[in-house]
Order: sequence, then structure tokens, then C-alpha cells
Amino acid sequence: MERVEVRTAVEQDAAAIAEIYNEGIRGRGATFETRERTVDEVRAWFRRERHPLLVAEMGGAVVGWVAASEYRPRDCYAGVAEFSVYVAGRARRRGVGDALMRAFVPALEAAGFWKVLSRIFPENAASLALCARHGFRVVGTYRRHGRLDGAWRDTVIVERLLGPAEEQEDEDLDRPSR
Ligand SMILES: CC(C)(COP(=O)(O)OP(=O)(O)OC[C@H]1O[C@@H](n2cnc3c(N)ncnc32)[C@H](O)[C@@H]1OP(=O)(O)O)[C@@H](O)C(=O)NCCC(=O)NCCS
Repeated sequence: MERVEVRTAVEQDAAAIAEIYNEGIRGRGATFETRERTVDEVRAWFRRERHPLLVAEMGGAVVGWVAASEYRPRDCYAGVAEFSVYVAGRARRRGVGDALMRAFVPALEAAGFWKVLSRIFPENAASLALCARHGFRVVGTYRRHGRLDGAWRDTVIVERLLGPAEEQEDEDLDRPSR
């Protein structure tokens, strides 16, 4: 399998990140968003100083990214991040998402986050499987959480505890630590 390199994104990656995101938006399987993003809008993501933004390269080209963003502005939720992960259609099912998630979890822990969560369409088998493989648990399903192209869609909430919060959960449940 071709080598996948994951690194922190730099502003010069904004065009590739936008292209991959816009392909995902057009695909209609990943997000409620229907408005494609400009490169300048993606550049603004680099002002989220605490939130990791990583890209994956294959053969010298950026083929995927994972980004954390603010969950809520309240101080008590400062350690909770939301996240999105997108891989270019041509590079899917070759371990890119997996490599991104493997690097993303320690990056979040190093930045002091204690939880990462996402909302996923129930039909998005790839994203649900990727999250399950990386230790996320399904919290529940929001029914009719929004409309995409006029049709109601549910979303599945997934969460993963990080760092000390994850270890604490193991103690609570009397499970051996992973
Ligand atoms: C979800 C996504 C990021 C996965 O990335 P990827 O690079 O294709 O994933 P990987 O090749 O690393 O696969 C890792 C594991 O995820 C699961 N997986 C990936 N694609 C899958 C699919 N189509 N169906 C079922 N499971 C899948 C498998 O468990 C896989 O391991 P395996 O190949 O050993 O069976 C990618 O499909 C994507 O970009 N989708 C569109 C955007 C999106 O839905 N983002 C998530 C928004 S919440």
C-alpha cells in the first residue's frame, strides 16, 4: 500500500483542503452543508489556534484532512472539540482516514482536549466504521436534525474521551485501561 504521511496543515494547503471538502459537500453523504467553500474561507480555519488541523499526503499530494473545531463557546466546554474528516474520492479506502485519525487523537490530547465528538448521517457507513475503529461510541441519534436538499435527515452522535478523561472512564467502569 502506498505510504501515507500525516502532518500539521499549513496555509498553503488551503486550496487542497477546500477542494476535498467541496467534493464531500457535492457528494451529499457527509454533511448538511451545500455551499461550497472558497480557499479564503478555509484559510480562516488556521486562526483556530488551539484546534488541530492535519493533512494526509500520498505521493506528494494532499489527499485528506481532519480538523477540530469549537464545540460551544462556554468555558466549561473548552476541552470538548468537534471534528470533521474528509478524504478525496480517488484516495478512499486506502488507509488515509485511518492514518489521519491515528495522528489526530494524540494531537487533540496534546492540545488539552478531553473529548472529541461528531455527528454522522446514519447512512454514512464509512465514517461510522472509521469512528468505531478509533474508539468512538455511539451516544444516540438526533431525529430530523436538519434538511438536506429538502429531505429530513437524522444524525448519529459519536464521542470519544481523551487523555485523563478516558482513563477516568476506565476506572469508573472497572475496565482495564487500553
Ligand atoms: C469516512 C472517510 C473519511 C474514510 O476515509 P478512508 O481513507 O476511505 O478510510 P480508510 O481507508 O482509512 O478506512 C479505515 C476503515 O474505515 C472503515 N471504512 C472506510 N470506508 C468504508 C466504507 N466505504 N464502508 C465501510 N467501512 C469503511 C473500514 O473499517 C476501514 O478499514 P478497512 O479498510 O481495513 O476495512 C471517507 O470515506 C470520506 O472522506 N468520506 C466522505 C466524507 C465523510 O463522510 N466524512 C465524514 C463526515 S462525518
